[in-house]
Amino acid sequence: MKKRIEFENICKTYSLGKVLIPALKNINLNITEGEFVAISGPSGSGKTTLLNLIGLIDKPTSGTIRFEENVITYNGQSKLHRLRQAKIGFIFQSFNLIPVLNAFENVEYPLLLTKMSAQQRKKRVEEMLDEVGILSMRTHKPRELSGGQRQRVAIARALVHQPKIVLADEPSANLDLQTAQDILQLMAKLNQEENVSFIFSTHDPQIVKIAKRVVSIRDGKLVN
Ligand SMILES: Nc1ncnc2c1ncn2[C@@H]1O[C@H](COP(=O)(O)OP(=O)(O)OP(=O)(O)O)[C@@H](O)[C@H]1O
Ligand SMILES: [Mg+2]
Repeated sequence: MKKRIEFENICKTYSLGKVLIPALKNINLNITEGEFVAISGPSGSGKTTLLNLIGLIDKPTSGTIRFEENVITYNGQSKLHRLRQAKIGFIFQSFNLIPVLNAFENVEYPLLLTKMSAQQRKKRVEEMLDEVGILSMRTHKPRELSGGQRQRVAIARALVHQPKIVLADEPSANLDLQTAQDILQLMAKLNQEENVSFIFSTHDPQIVKIAKRVVSIRDGKLVN
């Protein structure tokens, strides 16, 4: 199994004026290709902080992060940006869909940064919309979709450029249990078919059950 991401003695401390807030304390964690992992813990335990570090959108205070066995350095921002763009997909809690673009255009968006032709993009976007079950809603704007449907658009968008890792921060928040379970099952299916590592955070025990591996965090520390 190929290593995707490795954390070695990772600490993250936020400073608010003179107050230091240790959000992550000495985290050691490995995630390999194709894993389906839940990060579980109460509010304020450090889930979002951990996901932001895994997604290379934030920098640790100390410790080493390796991505596909290469140590990440945080001084070359454009290199880091390209790595993120090519290899990582995000599903944010509020979905972050672009309101003026319809479902098709939202999913197409990450592909505009690649060398794909318009025809190739259309094929890939329609394939993804079909995969998540909302191809017939391709011309709907986000406000014309339900929460679960928007979540599906966000999943399609996160996967459209075939990343190696997809991160989802509380993907089940704001959804009823049935829709949340459907969405997670869909993520599990895509995880198997596309061999993407899926990492999602949740504090819902019903949702944790769907994961193949659970990483529990309490007060900034991993617990077993
Ligand atoms: N930008 C920030 N500046 C200062 N402190 C922060 C910042 N972001 C998070 N924190 C603090 O770090 C700790 C961990 O926060 P984090 O957002 O990672 O928790 P979480 O597990 O995602 O919580 P939730 O379930 O409520 O989303 C908390 O004590 C929080 O107050
Ligand atoms: Mg959070």
